[in-house]
Amino acid sequence: MVEKEVERTIDALLEERREFEPPKEFTAQANANDPSIYEHAQKDPEAWWESQAERLSWSKKWDKVLEWNPPHQEWFVGGKLNASYNCLDRHLEESGDRIAYHWIGEPGDARSISYQELHAEVCKLANALKELGVQKGDRVAIYLPMIPELPASMLACARIGAVHSVVFGGFSAGSLRDRINDADCKILITADGGYRRGQNVPLKENADEALAETESIEKVIVVKRTTDDVAMSDGRDIVYSDLLESQSDKCEPEEMDAEDMLYVLYTSGTTGKPKGIVHTTGGYLTGVSSTHHLIFDIKPDSDVYWCAADIGWVTGHSYIVYGPLANGCTSILYEGAPDYPDKDRYWSIVEEYKATILYTAPTAIRAMMKWGVDYPQKHDLSSLRLLGSVGEPINPEAWIWYQEFIGAGKAPVVDTWWQTETGAIMISALPGITKLKPGSATVPFPGVVADVVDEKGEPVGPGSGGYLVLKRPAPAMMRTIFGDDDRYRETYFERYGDETYFPGDGARLDDEGYYWLLGRVDDVMNVAGHRLSTYEVESALVAHESVAEAAVVGRTDPKEGQAIVAFVTPRSGHEGNEDLSKELRQHVGKAIGKIARPQSIIFTDDLPKTRSGKIMRRLLRDVADGNELGDVTTLQNAPILDEIKKKADSQADDKDDK
Ligand code: WTA
Repeated sequence: MVEKEVERTIDALLEERREFEPPKEFTAQANANDPSIYEHAQKDPEAWWESQAERLSWSKKWDKVLEWNPPHQEWFVGGKLNASYNCLDRHLEESGDRIAYHWIGEPGDARSISYQELHAEVCKLANALKELGVQKGDRVAIYLPMIPELPASMLACARIGAVHSVVFGGFSAGSLRDRINDADCKILITADGGYRRGQNVPLKENADEALAETESIEKVIVVKRTTDDVAMSDGRDIVYSDLLESQSDKCEPEEMDAEDMLYVLYTSGTTGKPKGIVHTTGGYLTGVSSTHHLIFDIKPDSDVYWCAADIGWVTGHSYIVYGPLANGCTSILYEGAPDYPDKDRYWSIVEEYKATILYTAPTAIRAMMKWGVDYPQKHDLSSLRLLGSVGEPINPEAWIWYQEFIGAGKAPVVDTWWQTETGAIMISALPGITKLKPGSATVPFPGVVADVVDEKGEPVGPGSGGYLVLKRPAPAMMRTIFGDDDRYRETYFERYGDETYFPGDGARLDDEGYYWLLGRVDDVMNVAGHRLSTYEVESALVAHESVAEAAVVGRTDPKEGQAIVAFVTPRSGHEGNEDLSKELRQHVGKAIGKIARPQSIIFTDDLPKTRSGKIMRRLLRDVADGNELGDVTTLQNAPILDEIKKKADSQADDKDDK
């Protein structure tokens, strides 16, 4: 019986005890510094979200806050607004000259664009799209590098009520083709190319390849970024600047229903074809504006905010485009890689633009740990007052490193949990209120109701691991999967019923109600009857001074069910060898318990990651089990897998020899 009980949930064994109270000076000036905000929201979540919707400009107020027909939800029913109006027009009178984006190209070119200028560009493109026959509800595919034309294209769609589908510029022709076909897009906006680590990314060539197998695209708009010669198809392809030349810089925004679709964004789960996540207008904008204001503590007239994600991911949609622009703040938009031309590129940008807030991913932070502190220490980072993390659970040691070496020990670090599907941050500290614990995303945002439950949906209570669920709708949540509502229900609601959203992540609650995310439930290992999260073993490894990054998987083992295999990237100046391997096994044993000691450790310079930087454990499982590799289409750094495979094979040979 007891054994079964254990099997049902996830054993959470790692304990992290460091805590950081919000600095007094930070609290004094914070947008959120009154803890009663949580009580108000809990007492009446709808009234709370309504107060947040009032941050926006509506052309008609809603009749009803929430219409909940589980698993479906509608927010601010009957309300009318336009997203591009909210992101641009309403700021013009008072702050039209304020910079919306300091754009920095990878080769070193740069341009600062005011709200007024962005508004003019958006209106011109909106008029051009209309001229090309784009109507309200039509889908427009956008396949661009991180250049100002990307947010401008999204807002131009929003202005006329067209639905944008942004496809990350690092995706291949095949991925672009599938996404265009799934959403039946009418127009494609792309570029001749883009820059990545000094290389030219041939976007137009990819687009042409994709378009050979799509039927819905009528026109292709091509931004000239690299000035390379690219093939232009007569009658179909139009140069962006030519198209805008004759257009008026005024365009009436289309009045949209709160529940009209704003965009679709594809997310690839672990299996199956990518899901087109549908976000609508009023609820989404409310969620991103509110979270951006309260979590990032935005002061529009003084902050220089930098979210270093790519707009091709939801993080960029919500926290480079819609949240920051709805709040009228100044952002940095950087085109390139963090290590080009050198590994201090981020820090030279922070120094030059005096960035005050930086939002990035654990994968980037761990890369910086690997490169060493000399890079940040070459630069003056004293302008930074707040740091954020998103995308994966952040290992406590990476959190501490980030706080100490990037935030000079004074900037709070907000670890924000959310998903493409939730649209906005769901679990995070409010930095003027919440005590921080490295490795914990802390507590649900006001108005968000979460819990950690077992297989049957019963709360596991403090101390135990289980499955994270959301028990009430929140306005920015997805509405459905494009063209496949059955899949929406199956994927997220089958497990616990229509009223309980299951995001697919494991978590643990501590006795203060803090959430400790344990990674995707697909990654959980079963070691001698214990369900262990890969994240905890990885965090224990990263806590060792010699380790920058680690990925842990379960290898099928006849005795234990699964045996733990760790793939470890040493920090610069450390060497992966037999001695270190022994030391690390001991170290994990001490930190978590003998049960969590890796059976084998493979040292590698890098780990296989998705294009958004998440470690692909499923491929490492294939390597550990000696299986054929599964689907590698979303893999960012394919060559590293061959290297890891060779090392794993040679270790297996060594064992055979012994
Ligand atoms: C993971 C990115 C732990 C999680 C916004 C989630 C996190 C998935 C965190 C969504 C975090 C994101 N702590 N895990 N702070 N943030 N995740 O759709 O597994 O690219 O389900 O959205 O990333 O990834 P997505």
